[in-house]
Amino acid sequence: MSVPTPLAHRIRDHVDRLGAQHPPIDLATADFTVRDPSSVRARFGHVLSYMARVEIEVERNVLELATLLPAVSETDRRFYADVWAPQEERHGLLLDALGQELGMDPVRADTTEVPARVAVLGRLAHLPFVHEVVRLLYYLTGAATEKSAMLAYRAMSTGLEELGEKAIRRTVVDAIKVQEPGHYAFYKLSAEEMLASGAISGWQLHLARLLRSRRYGLVGARTAEQRRDFGGVVVELGLDADLERHVRDISRLESQLLWAREKGLPVPDYALAGFRDAARDYRRERDLRAA
Ligand SMILES: [Fe+2]
Ligand SMILES: [Fe+2]
Repeated sequence: MSVPTPLAHRIRDHVDRLGAQHPPIDLATADFTVRDPSSVRARFGHVLSYMARVEIEVERNVLELATLLPAVSETDRRFYADVWAPQEERHGLLLDALGQELGMDPVRADTTEVPARVAVLGRLAHLPFVHEVVRLLYYLTGAATEKSAMLAYRAMSTGLEELGEKAIRRTVVDAIKVQEPGHYAFYKLSAEEMLASGAISGWQLHLARLLRSRRYGLVGARTAEQRRDFGGVVVELGLDADLERHVRDISRLESQLLWAREKGLPVPDYALAGFRDAARDYRRERDLRAA
């Protein structure tokens, strides 16, 4: 049985602060002045449309969470429904608007279709011991997702600086970038609180390890094509040059909480393989197209 900890109060306050300090970005504050649209599009078009889709699809993620966590706490519900989703959806709309300013097609996002796998897991999550495993995996997936977003926006911001595209860097990418670390902190604190409060037992942790290593998902990628497109984000942002370091950074929380006492893994092999295979498939496809 879990015991409320001081950390649980800190998380609740963190969610309050995020909501108060980071309202969804007002689209009217974006300055879409672009000096050289074709260069921005050539360098960031792929990344832009991938990120826009993933950010817009949080609308579906909220439906998935309502299914996956039937006994959700008020702090968790407030975070994902009242704070996180409204911010992320606005990120998606901003990126989509920028893409259209650059002459790209509007993003096609799936905001409604909850996968059958999620529905099955959601039914199992009515059992309290399964619910807590699913909740831990939600935090770990969330942390990896936010770290990936932080890396991507940092790389985009640096790239736009190099291109001299000050307006969109400041009012689009940096405006989004500043909202991601607070999301990461929520997941990190929440996962740490679960372990500190004794909400999860040794064998539940074992089940979490098993599920995570068998079903590791790349952010926003449900199909083979989307996985390859994710690889495109990695490649186009130049992250594959030092992939192991980036995946270590993205996976740090799960390395510490799931694996440290077990094997002392520096980088979970399933995560590294997921990123590496996606980048390889993208490069292969790109080379075929160029041939
Ligand atoms: Fe975001
Ligand atoms: Fe985020």
